[in-house]
Amino acid sequence: NTYVIIMAGGVGTRFWPFSRTSYPKQFHDVLGTGRTLLQQTADRFNGVCPPENIYIVTSSLYKDLCQQQLPQLTDEQVLCEPVARNTAPCIAYACYKIAQRDPEANIVVAPADHIILKEEEFQRTILAALDATKSQDILVTLGIQPSRPDTGYGYIQYIPESGDTVKKVKTFTEKPHLELAQQFVDSGEFVWNAGIFVWNVQAIIKAFQAHLPEVAEIFEEGKEAYYTEAEKAFVDKAYSLTKSISIDNGVMEKAQNVYVVLSEFGWSDLGTWKSLYEVSDKNDDLNVVDGHVLLYDTKNCIIKTPKDRLVAINGLDGFIVAEYDNVLMICRKEDEQKVKAFVADAKEKG
Ligand code: GDD
Ligand code: MG
Repeated sequence: NTYVIIMAGGVGTRFWPFSRTSYPKQFHDVLGTGRTLLQQTADRFNGVCPPENIYIVTSSLYKDLCQQQLPQLTDEQVLCEPVARNTAPCIAYACYKIAQRDPEANIVVAPADHIILKEEEFQRTILAALDATKSQDILVTLGIQPSRPDTGYGYIQYIPESGDTVKKVKTFTEKPHLELAQQFVDSGEFVWNAGIFVWNVQAIIKAFQAHLPEVAEIFEEGKEAYYTEAEKAFVDKAYSLTKSISIDNGVMEKAQNVYVVLSEFGWSDLGTWKSLYEVSDKNDDLNVVDGHVLLYDTKNCIIKTPKDRLVAINGLDGFIVAEYDNVLMICRKEDEQKVKAFVADAKEKG
């Protein structure tokens, strides 16, 4: 049986100010398609697994938003975290809970905030990965051909001749610094980690036990509590105990049984302004504009401002101009990795 875990608890800080703690980007219709990123993510699994096998893991703050946007979900399908502890505890919680219901579960873990243009190709890739993982003790991730030395991704080095569909991974490096990322891209031996994982539930539990035993122990303890009234109290305690760590740093970088399926389905992590710029339609001056603007001598910019406000810009090249709610940010596109620091400072200085 196939299950899908959608991770939807991130705040998407690098997309600030558009993505905010109160309304992160997965709940926005970022591309103007009429469906939010979360809805598109769930839609994408139509036919891969029955709707009752989809679990969303999110902050309890976003429970209502999830259910408004995906009304088919029951309470049991929205797993609520009292605090964010990054993706390893999120995945551990959902996987241990699913294991309780179905010890032979095959699982796809997907982020809620990506876009995928070629849906059919995506499903084909997922089904191939599921086929490979159902009877093998391996951790499969999807790999994307890199187009630039982006420091926001995980980099996977694989052995090209090691298999047809799934290829053995030699190294996994999460968010390398720029020089290293450049070397990886130049070598031609690496792909980006798409952040979409496929495994059977026993394989991931084994991996947690081996590489994050503290986390494994905490969520293993929930056995008695899952699917009962005691679950909320258990989860509150578990999250107060667990450390904060990503699945990439905690498991994927360390495990020896990682495999990659090379993928090409029009993927983009809408993680940052530049990634939104890349996938969006551009005008003649290569500007991406969503707002009411007057532009003079301005090119290569991404501008997203409220429609009820006229913005006049002169002489900008390669900038992000983003206004949302009570925040206006103007930042060089090249410097977008600094946005995280702006958010921290904004929190501190108000
Ligand atoms: N429930 C829950 N709880 N979800 C979370 C949490 C959490 O504490 N933290 C993050 N998420 C969700 C985010 O909403 C997103 O959908 C997904 O988990 C991945 O988290 P990100 O914070 O966006 O990770 P990243 O983009 O920096 O890096 C990951 O994705 C890249 C590709 O997009 C890594 O897997 C990289 O290796 C990968 O290249
Ligand atoms: Mg991301």
